[in-house]
Amino acid sequence: MDVNGKTVVVTGAASGIGRALARRFHADGASVVLADRTEIPLGELERELNTRRPGSAHAVLADIGTEFGNKALIDSARHKFGRIHLFFANAGVAFGTDLEHTEESAWTTSFDINIHAHRWAAKHLIDDWVAHGDGYFCSTASAAGLLAQIGSAPYSVTKHAAVAFAEWLSITYGDRGLKVSCLCPQGVNTNMLNPPDSHGTDVRGGDVVRAAGAVLEPEQVADIVADAIRNERFLILPHPEVAMYEQNRTADREKWLAGMRKLQRRIFGAG
Ligand SMILES: NC(=O)c1ccc[n+]([C@@H]2O[C@H](COP(=O)([O-])OP(=O)(O)OC[C@H]3O[C@@H](n4cnc5c(N)ncnc54)[C@H](O)[C@@H]3O)[C@@H](O)[C@H]2O)c1
Repeated sequence: MDVNGKTVVVTGAASGIGRALARRFHADGASVVLADRTEIPLGELERELNTRRPGSAHAVLADIGTEFGNKALIDSARHKFGRIHLFFANAGVAFGTDLEHTEESAWTTSFDINIHAHRWAAKHLIDDWVAHGDGYFCSTASAAGLLAQIGSAPYSVTKHAAVAFAEWLSITYGDRGLKVSCLCPQGVNTNMLNPPDSHGTDVRGGDVVRAAGAVLEPEQVADIVADAIRNERFLILPHPEVAMYEQNRTADREKWLAGMRKLQRRIFGAG
């Protein structure tokens, strides 16, 4: 898809990967709807983009961890710009601690934001996309959705679910014109890795991600995503080595699990 002249919605647009995606799609000529639950940086981004091209950016304060929040976001985007051509379900949270110390609320929030948000958005978009025979859904999962997140069961499980949902959408609606992509990065230099506070994130999780490999800047990821969307590629791997790790996982599960335990010992020590 060429995003020039199209309407693109990005969730989690107030920071990190979402902000870089919004800037990149806007630079490529799209009208962008910026959604987040964090008001101040969202408004600043809206002003920045509207200064460059008046009327081309629309900020929506939304909690996408509810069906109502997704529906309200989609209604607001349509009211402002008409049809939504590309919806980028990018907002996410990461909680990581031992299983016995993970609060029930961390599980619920992880499921709501990392996976239910994707299906709630798709549910309210799909009729229009099927009726027009075109539409594009992209989600940010994670390399953890293809492999595992050492130290966080909620993140591993919900990101696997996000990959599975994106695949299911592509299988089910691909012949009716829906394009689907799924972004699966390893480390990206954002608040999730370097939290300004501990809300929704975990410092130890950042240490795990840094130990696993290179940390990219969000702008590098946005460039790779823009190329993948232009070429309508399903799997977007900013860290190409993840494809090899995934092959290792499926080729010899025992060996892969032993390797992951070894990596875990290297990060946390034998205990
Ligand atoms: N940073 C990494 O290393 C990394 C690696 C793989 C995948 N990811 C994924 O990338 C996506 C973006 O994360 P990021 O790294 O840019 O982190 P980030 O913390 O900088 O950005 C996440 C944004 O999502 C927003 N958000 C969270 N819950 C929300 C809700 N209920 N409603 C609306 N907005 C909400 C936050 O306010 C924030 O602005 C996430 O899905 C994350 O899991 C990140």
